[in-house]
This record gives sequence, structure tokens and C-alpha cells, in this order.
Amino acid sequence: MADVSVLNVKLYGRVIGTLTHVQGDRTLFSFTEDYIADGHRPTLGLGFKDDLGGLITNHAATQVRVLPFFSNLLPEGHLRDYLAERAGVNPLREFFLLWVLGRDLPGALTIELAEGEAWPPGTGDKTGERNQSRENALRFSLAGVQLKFSALGDTKANKGLTIPAEGVGGSWIVKLPSARFKSVPENEFAMMSLARLIGIDVPEIDLVDLTAIKNLPEGLGDLTGKAYAIARFDRTPDGPVHIEDFAQVYGVYPENKYKSASYRNIATVIGAEGSDADIEEFTRRLVFNTLIGNADLHLKNWSLIYRDRRTPSLSPAYDFVSTIAYIKDDEAALKYARKRRFDALDADELAYLAGKAHLPEKPVLDTAKETVARFHEAWAREKTHLPQAKSVTEAIDAHLERLPLVKL
Ligand SMILES: Nc1ncnc2c1ncn2[C@@H]1O[C@H](COP(=O)(O)OP(=O)(O)O)[C@@H](O)[C@H]1O
Ligand SMILES: [Mg+2]
Repeated sequence: MADVSVLNVKLYGRVIGTLTHVQGDRTLFSFTEDYIADGHRPTLGLGFKDDLGGLITNHAATQVRVLPFFSNLLPEGHLRDYLAERAGVNPLREFFLLWVLGRDLPGALTIELAEGEAWPPGTGDKTGERNQSRENALRFSLAGVQLKFSALGDTKANKGLTIPAEGVGGSWIVKLPSARFKSVPENEFAMMSLARLIGIDVPEIDLVDLTAIKNLPEGLGDLTGKAYAIARFDRTPDGPVHIEDFAQVYGVYPENKYKSASYRNIATVIGAEGSDADIEEFTRRLVFNTLIGNADLHLKNWSLIYRDRRTPSLSPAYDFVSTIAYIKDDEAALKYARKRRFDALDADELAYLAGKAHLPEKPVLDTAKETVARFHEAWAREKTHLPQAKSVTEAIDAHLERLPLVKL
């Protein structure tokens, strides 16, 4: 086994940096000279910018893990363990996980071995069986927790989705039903549909029969029902669009996605970097997710998108689920500004959040009021037509009773 391995970090196909694995299971990241010298360089992430907008080029070596920015590109939890096992890689050794999974990452990034073997040393023999698991592993390479994969497919007219054999290149994300909780795909589809109805920026979504998905890997256990599909906003016919999530923005490892920063901190970045429309959109999403009881709106469920390759704006919405029907919870995933309880979000907390995040108060409060009004109207009209389980509807109705926000 060679002592040193190098992975190229590519942004829009151009090598902009390298991750180098050296003795002692340490990894070093550095930008290429060419990228450093480029005055019009495409942005990799806000966390790489210093206070004057320059590029931060000194990065401490990490051991076993990679820098939080790169760690956040990898799947978490069970999904990571499952993939790592299939690929024959230790789930803690992130350099090797990137080596294996780097071809279909969020945004316009790819990470590929500079030269040499396609698979890390020590990941087993080259028998057909092992190769099959590796290919299967690649099909699930997307970040997050829920079992999911990229899929190729057409719009509504042609409902079939196909998982590409190599796991790379799909423009949809398909999330499979959960073995633990009932009807999560229906819940997510319903919440995202409602979000769209009240004016939130939601990509094309669909609920698909598992039987309509071609090429589903085997060995997934007894899955029944429907899967949730969402069009990837980081894939367009003109090529990939770069995105980063707020754990990356703040340089926080994925396991700290429920702490280390608050909604006020997210708002500060959006206020400083985004447009007035982004501030309104942020407010709509914060209010909406409080109303539906989404206790999982953590740092990784907010992303920035770089449509012109340099300037961030708030990405379209994703991963809105009413979680309170599954796990009773009085608190949001992050603190609003001072408080965390769902019932603490009122005009006062919103005004405080806006002030601390340097957002203009009036548009925030006006947008919040409008969102509540639109929600009432859409919920009353649609709740019996949307596909979420009855228990979810009941949990939301009970939750709304306890929220001062509804009287905003
Ligand atoms: N429509 C989308 N387009 C592009 N990237 C997406 C989209 N939806 C989710 N993602 C990315 O995939 C990750 C996992 O998706 P998410 O829906 O949050 O799954 P999970 O329920 O596992 O957290 C997100 O953190 C985000 O980076
Ligand atoms: Mg998520």
C-alpha cells in the first residue's frame, strides 16, 4: 500500500484542489495554484472566504476524518455504515469514503483519485460479488440519512424512474420508505406540496410506486408502498450547479447539525449574501416548518446555491417532513434566536431574530403573517386531499392548537 494517495477535488470538472492522505491516517487539503490565482474563481464554499472576500488557503491537517466541508458531502448514520460495508471501507475513514463515493456528490463537485487504482487498497478482492456490492454502494452515495439514490427519469408524462447502473448521473433523488416510520414519503410529499401552495420554492416532486422504479438494488429488505422523488436542483441540462449546506458554511461536522448554529445565524448569512427575496423565502420556510412541526430542520436541511458560480442565494426547499407524528417534540431542530421551543416563535422572537441577523424587521414580520394566513387557507382546503397518514394530520392539528404563531 502506497504511503501517499491523492484525490483531485474538481469543481465544474476543473481541478481546484487536492486531498492528500499521508502517514498516520492524516489528510491535508490544499487549493491548486491556478485556483488561488484566479480572480474570477467559482466559489467552493463561503467557509473558504476570509473577512475581505479572499481565499483561505491554510487548512489544518485532519486525522481519520476530512475537513468538515468535505465530511458533509458524505452520507451519515446507517446510510454511511451500509455503504461503507458494501464498499469494504471503514465508515470512519472519510478519505477512503470520498475515494469511493466522490463521483456523485451534492453540487458541482466531484472527487476522484488523481492516479492509480479505482478502489482503495485493502477493500477486498476483485471477484464479481465484491464488484457488484461496490456498484450498489455507488447508487446510494448521496448525503443525508434516509436511504436514497439518484435516478434518471422523465417528467410527469413518463412516471418511470431508473436508477443508473453506475449510480452516477441521475437528475432525481428518490427516497425510499422508512422501515421505522410509517408513510414518510407520503408525509414529505404532502408537506412539500403544501409548501409550494403557500409560495415556497419547491422543485418538481412525485410519489412513485416502488414497482415503477427500474433497477432497484436487491437486498433492501421488505419495502412496500411508495417512494418520494424530487428533481435535483443541482443538476440541469447545462451541467451541474454548485450548492453547499449550512453545516459546510459553518465548518461544522454533520453530527453537530443540531447545534453550533441557530436560525438566527442562518438568517445572518442569507441577509448578508442573498437578496430581499431570499430573506422572505427564509422567513416563509421558518414559519411553515414551525407550523407543521418539523423538528428536523437542522443545518444540513438548508443550502445555498451558486447559480452564477460565484454568488450564493438560498437553494430551493427540500426535506420538509412533519416529524411530530413520529417523535413527539416541543422543540425545533435549532434555536430560533433565544429560544428553541416551537411555541416560542412569535412576533417578539421574530423581531429579535431579525434585529440580531441585521434583517429589516418589517418584511420579516409581514412575510411571517402572510405565510400563516396562506397556511391556514391551504391546510383547511387540502388536508383531507393530501396523501399524509391520518395520524400526521391529527398531530399537526393538535400542534397548531398550541402555537401562538397561528395568531400572528
Ligand atoms: N432536490 C434536491 N436537489 C439537490 N440536492 C438535494 C435535493 N434534495 C436533497 N438534496 C441534497 O441531498 C441531501 C439529502 O437529502 P434530504 O432530503 O435532506 O435527505 P435526508 O432525509 O436523508 O436528510 C440534502 O442534505 C441535500 O444536500
Ligand atoms: Mg436532510
